[in-house]
Amino acid sequence: MTTNPISSVAKIENAPENPMKFFKEYLEEAEMYQNDTFLLFNLATGNSKGEVLNRTVVLRGHDDDGIIFVTERNSRKYLDIQENPQVSATFLWCYRKTADSELIKHQVRILGTAKELSAEKIKEFYDNEPLAYKIRSAICRCGEPVNWDELKKSHDDLMQRVLEGSETLPQNESYTVIHVKATNVDFYHSQGPNQMADRVVYRLEGNKWRQEHVFA
Ligand SMILES: Cc1cc2nc3c(=O)[nH]c(=O)nc-3n(C[C@H](O)[C@H](O)[C@H](O)COP(=O)(O)O)c2cc1C
Repeated sequence: MTTNPISSVAKIENAPENPMKFFKEYLEEAEMYQNDTFLLFNLATGNSKGEVLNRTVVLRGHDDDGIIFVTERNSRKYLDIQENPQVSATFLWCYRKTADSELIKHQVRILGTAKELSAEKIKEFYDNEPLAYKIRSAICRCGEPVNWDELKKSHDDLMQRVLEGSETLPQNESYTVIHVKATNVDFYHSQGPNQMADRVVYRLEGNKWRQEHVFA
């Protein structure tokens, strides 16, 4: 489509029936052009007091129903999810396909219900974590005050014991993996500096997805 440089209107075309299929298409394009940061997203949680907090996490998987991330049970996000499993995940992908092409801006917001994976699945994830992640998970008390010298010493000592083989790092109580089952998925697309964006919002009604274009 040729766009008017003064002002134009974006159009999302061929949006598939399942928003997670559409998510996969956006994700794969972002992987191709945005490189290192394409898996990062912003996760917002709220607790029973109505307090809201958001933070960056890494996308560790996705399926037809939603997305997966890894975290610690001693973190605020985990505690929030126990009180209120409704979460919101926002992905922002901005990239040019070629050096002189227009900037593409994609945002995807996934609203859904967070739930831990089964113990068996969590173990599978843990077993495949790199050593650095296992060390961090073993010593991290997320959000608690920490003395840097003590932290460094416990990190280095534990790493040495593991490398010598005198200690293994079995899965600890804190490590966990969360699946967010999407109930509302919102795609935003615009390209170039003077383009009115388009949005397609999917809502899960029963077990069927309904989609519509909405003003951006
Ligand atoms: C680039 C980046 C990636 C991160 N990935 C994760 C992650 O996958 N899981 C996680 O629990 N925290 C991750 N964090 C740390 C969180 O943003 C946050 O600081 C920490 O989990 C404590 O959050 P909470 O107290 O709100 O639960 C990441 C931070 C950054 C900057």
